[in-house]
Amino acid sequence: MAIREVLRMGHPVLRQVARPVERFGTPELARLLEDMRDTMAHEDGAGLAAPQIGESVRVVIFGVTANPRYPDAEEVPFTVLVNPVITPLSEEVEDGWEGCLSVPGLRGVVPRRTRIRYAGFDEAGRPLDRVATGFHARVVQHECDHLDGILYPMRMPDMSRFGFTDVLFPGLDAGPDD
Ligand code: NI
Repeated sequence: MAIREVLRMGHPVLRQVARPVERFGTPELARLLEDMRDTMAHEDGAGLAAPQIGESVRVVIFGVTANPRYPDAEEVPFTVLVNPVITPLSEEVEDGWEGCLSVPGLRGVVPRRTRIRYAGFDEAGRPLDRVATGFHARVVQHECDHLDGILYPMRMPDMSRFGFTDVLFPGLDAGPDD
């Protein structure tokens, strides 16, 4: 196992369009995913994209279990998603606060589609196809943006709703970062 350094905004790898995974079930992919799981757990994140640990490939993981620290956070099943494709299923967008392990200490309000379909593969190359709404849909959109070099501040239409977590939410635990 290895906890890897999470790259922060400004690092060029975070701005790259990541390349697709071409072979599944390889030791390289297994090692990458192990490092991603270890790093996400260590950082207490809701999700992590491979470029955040410096690997420019189209791999994301995410998942939120019921946590008494975040009573309002919806549960999201732990998921490995390789070569994802997102299809919006609704025109509707919803504002919500987001954080990111690559933008530490900050939060901002980002509009996201409320209902999406996401498809891709697990680490063994088995296809995965799901419909997600609300917070689950938000997490998937945030993580997949990382694969196209997009960080959440680039999605913010209103920079007045961007700030330091401890200033915005004094005394509160604002929830996990992505
Ligand atoms: Ni992020």
